[in-house]
Amino acid sequence: MSDLPAPLNPPERLLCGPGPSNIDPRVLEAMRLPMLGHLDPDFHKILEDLIELLKAAYRRSDGFTIALSASGTSGMEAGLASLAEPGETAIVASCGFFGNRMIDIARRHRLNVIELRAPFGQAVPNDQIVEALADHPEARLVAVVHAETSTGVAHPLEQLGEAMRGSDALLLADCVTSLGGMPLEAEGWGVDYCYSCSQKCLGAPPGISPVSLSERAMERIRARTQPVPFSFDFEQLARYWVGRPAVYHHTTPNTQYYALYEGLRLALEEGLEARWARHAEAGAHLQAGLADRGYRLLADPEVQLAQLSAVCVPEGVDGKDVQMRLLREHSIEVGGGLGPDAPDIWRIGMMGTNAHTETADRLLEAFDAVLESPREGVSAGRA
Ligand SMILES: Cc1ncc(COP(=O)(O)O)c(C=O)c1O
Repeated sequence: MSDLPAPLNPPERLLCGPGPSNIDPRVLEAMRLPMLGHLDPDFHKILEDLIELLKAAYRRSDGFTIALSASGTSGMEAGLASLAEPGETAIVASCGFFGNRMIDIARRHRLNVIELRAPFGQAVPNDQIVEALADHPEARLVAVVHAETSTGVAHPLEQLGEAMRGSDALLLADCVTSLGGMPLEAEGWGVDYCYSCSQKCLGAPPGISPVSLSERAMERIRARTQPVPFSFDFEQLARYWVGRPAVYHHTTPNTQYYALYEGLRLALEEGLEARWARHAEAGAHLQAGLADRGYRLLADPEVQLAQLSAVCVPEGVDGKDVQMRLLREHSIEVGGGLGPDAPDIWRIGMMGTNAHTETADRLLEAFDAVLESPREGVSAGRA
């Protein structure tokens, strides 16, 4: 190549979209530590400690908890592909884009999917899920999204776990936007399979999916008659993560693991309860500021997440243009609606290191500046 592109020089952004969030300097520093090979016993010690950190974050003492070298979507696919076999029934409750993605993935793995859907801004009522389970006693799996990032809706997961106690069906929960940002007790609530991501409330770079399986979920996998996808073979992954000597499965992205490790250390140093409270406070502050300005939130207040607010774009305002001006004029990222049938919304995240009332104020001021000085072709408006 004769003309090399210039050295990398990305701008500083305040990442207040649905993820990734900004990264604490300690997490970035961890990524500069010496590289180790994936079969180095010193690296295996790090992985063992990482497992303990993850178990503490998920609040699980039994079963199998690791971090997949893959994004949140792969954590979703690993669970759906492993916990039920082709032809078996899975009940999937969807209230937005990521619930719909679960349905799509479950179908691709040839599960018989019973779909339950809620309108945008609502959660599928637990009674409806329990009724579906009674109508389909053959169901092997119930899947829900704990924190639906496309609409800002929380699913009452603890109550679902309670209602499903004694059922043979496993409970699978998407915790991509909940882990580290709101109460979650994988073991205490009876969640058999949780998956998450590194880049949201844990504040590490994207690309890693922490997953946590109950002992009975592992038993289900051991009893399978049909093979699982190789990349998500939890039995083989266990031979690498906890088997000694470790058996090669794939070459792991070790610096990404260092980052997640430090992100988790930060979260646990702060204390999970304190961290959840910080997210709740930042979200409530942002939402109060939005309400004061006359904006409407998409989610029913009963199920509103703190860490993700889906804000309805007011009549007469070009939502995409506002997003671009926040980015270009204030270096702040917020998200828009997700998917072809998405409502006209902005999606604002208060996650990880960004979950502070000061960040919410900075964002509200930037919104004020953009909407009170509309460029040609953009009319300011309030709901
Ligand atoms: C609720 C939810 N589930 C799954 C995913 C997919 O995660 P990833 O983009 O890391 O694959 C996301 C990503 O935003 C999400 O918000």
